[in-house]
Amino acid sequence: MPLDLAFVRKQFPALADDFVYFDNAGGSAVLKTVAERVYEYLTTTSVQTGASYAHSRRASERLAQARARFALLVGASRAEEIVIGSSTTALCQNLARALRWRLKPGDEIIVTAFDHESNIGPWRGLEALGFVVKVWGLDPQTCEIDLDALDRLMTSRTRLVAVTHASNILGTINPIAEIARRVHAHGAEIVVDAVAYAPHRAIDVIALDVDYYMFSFYKTYGPHLAMMYGQYDKLIELDGLYHYFYGRAMVPQKLEPGNPNYELAWGAAGVVDYLDRLGGGSGDRAAIERAFDDIGAQEAALSERLLSYLRDRNDVRILGRRDSLAASRVPTISFKVEGRDSAEIVRAVDEAGIGMRFGDFHSKRLVEALGEAGSSGVLRVSMVHYNTVEEVDRLIVRLDQIL
Ligand SMILES: Cc1ncc(COP(=O)(O)O)c(C=O)c1O
Repeated sequence: MPLDLAFVRKQFPALADDFVYFDNAGGSAVLKTVAERVYEYLTTTSVQTGASYAHSRRASERLAQARARFALLVGASRAEEIVIGSSTTALCQNLARALRWRLKPGDEIIVTAFDHESNIGPWRGLEALGFVVKVWGLDPQTCEIDLDALDRLMTSRTRLVAVTHASNILGTINPIAEIARRVHAHGAEIVVDAVAYAPHRAIDVIALDVDYYMFSFYKTYGPHLAMMYGQYDKLIELDGLYHYFYGRAMVPQKLEPGNPNYELAWGAAGVVDYLDRLGGGSGDRAAIERAFDDIGAQEAALSERLLSYLRDRNDVRILGRRDSLAASRVPTISFKVEGRDSAEIVRAVDEAGIGMRFGDFHSKRLVEALGEAGSSGVLRVSMVHYNTVEEVDRLIVRLDQIL
């Protein structure tokens, strides 16, 4: 079904003005219902959880409900598999801390050259403890990854592979289920950064067969909060990060030092309600999958409009896939204009009331590997389902004036 864009846009108060939001991979607009839930929580339930009085019981129930909604969103079979944190960066650093004592010197970790630094730095940091860190690169010309190259990097000492589900620069969707299959065949675990994927496509952690999987709600229509799915048995094995009396089996609490942010967790559950409503309101996974099918179709139309313009220009290098298939890419489109400074172009676009961006977007190693770090980095137009083809046309008109 085509998305009801009038309904969709009405759910996001920030979209009421004429400004064009094309920096969604930096941070999306927030749903009205999310903001209302945060306000309502703070003004009615802002007490510590875990006590016996009524307000505290209600706060505890709300946290449990939010966790269950997050489990539904990613297809986890139990709510205890959801670890809530302040950001994906913090969750990944915490995971590295909780995991490191299970590793032995000489054990190998594979990171990529195409991830955001959040899923590289914490693992590279373990090198100092005697672990071997290897880097899985990509072809700098085609921007494509090579699964056989990953196979060649893995040995019997490989313990972990850290990889992104979608690049926040290239927009390419990586075949995580297939990568997980290969990683598990070597007896290793996989940790996936899904920050650039979660706003765009349905997640099914069971079908993907991932061990750890994380993303941030502030890029998925919610507040500054993040979540990590971890397979229950794997979470039990991790070291705790909280007080010594939080035992091994206290999952996920032992991995949430200082407790999660209750009001934002309650607010973020509004994202799941929104997706449910978009998908027909049946309250189950099917609704979420239907919503993302429609989101994917709208996004493909947006990508095609911009990519067809960029493909026609001889002075533009598109970084990543040139096709707009929903199964192949998300509508995060980066490019470079020959002989032009990216910052100068973005500033001229700013003047037209259109928010796009330039730089390396903390995927510094990728932008360097592509040879595009100079001239203020790359240009990025990052769209989501609430953007319109008319907005893309406004950008194209502006780019035509500038280029
Ligand atoms: C792909 C990707 N991973 C990780 C992050 C970091 O997320 P957070 O800001 O929640 O730490 C970002 C933020 O831009 C990102 O785009």
